Amino acid sequence: MEHFSADYGAVDQYLLDLFVSEGEALRQARLSSAQTRMPHAEIAPNQGAFLALLVEMMGAKRILEFGTLAGYSTIWLARAAGTEGRVTTLELHEEVTALAKENIAAAGLSERVRHITGPAQQSAQALIDSGEPPFDFVFVDADKPKNRSYLELSLQLCRPGSVIVLDNVVRGGAVIQPSGDGSAARGVQESLAFAAAHPGIHATALQTVGLKGWDGFALLRVTDPWAKMSGQE
Ligand code: DHB
Ligand code: MG
Repeated sequence: MEHFSADYGAVDQYLLDLFVSEGEALRQARLSSAQTRMPHAEIAPNQGAFLALLVEMMGAKRILEFGTLAGYSTIWLARAAGTEGRVTTLELHEEVTALAKENIAAAGLSERVRHITGPAQQSAQALIDSGEPPFDFVFVDADKPKNRSYLELSLQLCRPGSVIVLDNVVRGGAVIQPSGDGSAARGVQESLAFAAAHPGIHATALQTVGLKGWDGFALLRVTDPWAKMSGQE
């Protein structure tokens, strides 16, 4: 095989030029995330297109998102879900929800998106407690130290056949060398270990390179959300 320099960003740009035409609303949402406390944490455009394809392929109509940020991924998900689709998106900060609402309105998608602001664990628990019907598709892209908890809560909001995607599972390789308890990489590691060990989840994870550097995502298919982990009552 010929050897080429590893210019991941340039190759991503080539793929984006081929496959992804964002349009103004998505472009504006992506750029505006620079105003949040997590600048550039939004997914790459071709990752957005990938999530959209997953949603379309499974015909997902009820979507849950952990981590709205500026609403960039929310717009991809809401578009892919179609006119009958609904995205419930969880975000910690009021001002970030406000920004996302503007971006989602500019995309003409406000009617498809429900925003819940506050700590996502509490928001998800409130959905569970209120008997929320199951979601078809869950995208977990929020505070990494809480990743395992987000995944466990997601399961309680899933049905057999639901799909869960976890973003940022490689983190430049940090996932295999977490810096300590409570670190982002440790949180990711805990969520991957949970997914791998859960008898009601079929999962894999892939590394990615590109505009976002070296990272990856995990793809989970829920076969039995109520299956007990071994050692559990
Ligand atoms: C971080 C979080 C993200 O969701 C992301 O896509 C990139 C980085 C972070 O916590 O630094
Ligand atoms: Mg992310």
